[in-house]
Amino acid sequence: MSLASILGDEADTLTAAAYLHDIGYAPNLVDTGFHPLDGARYLRDVHQADDTLCRLVAHHSCAVNEALERALFVELTAEFDEERPELVQALTYCDMTTGPDGRHLDVTERLAEIHSRYGPEHLVSRSITASTPCILSAVRAVEAALSEVRQVGAG
Ligand SMILES: [Fe+2]
Repeated sequence: MSLASILGDEADTLTAAAYLHDIGYAPNLVDTGFHPLDGARYLRDVHQADDTLCRLVAHHSCAVNEALERALFVELTAEFDEERPELVQALTYCDMTTGPDGRHLDVTERLAEIHSRYGPEHLVSRSITASTPCILSAVRAVEAALSEVRQVGAG
């Protein structure tokens, strides 16, 4: 079941965000070191990308918690508004049910993978811990929407 069925016209923007959300990790784009903000600024300032796309990248996977850890909350939220929940949740779902190698993972496996890659003391691990309720609720919301579409399709 594709996310297009629950996103309608926004599916293309979501697909673009799914490809581009981690672009801020590119070494030549690193500025603050907070990849959602560096990536969103790059898309906005260099490519004049669509506002929805920039907002999704800026806030992907509950990035606001890592912004707090990095003392970049004011910059993030002043420059980029939150997008609509269904889009934000859909991107979080894509990110948090896919491993670094592109394989599908259950969200709990994905969270464990991030913790084991960074280790318990790392800022990213602390941020992911703070973001876990937000991530789980996004994944559950998308799974519920997908199963509703499936039932309507079957009925
Ligand atoms: Fe990311």
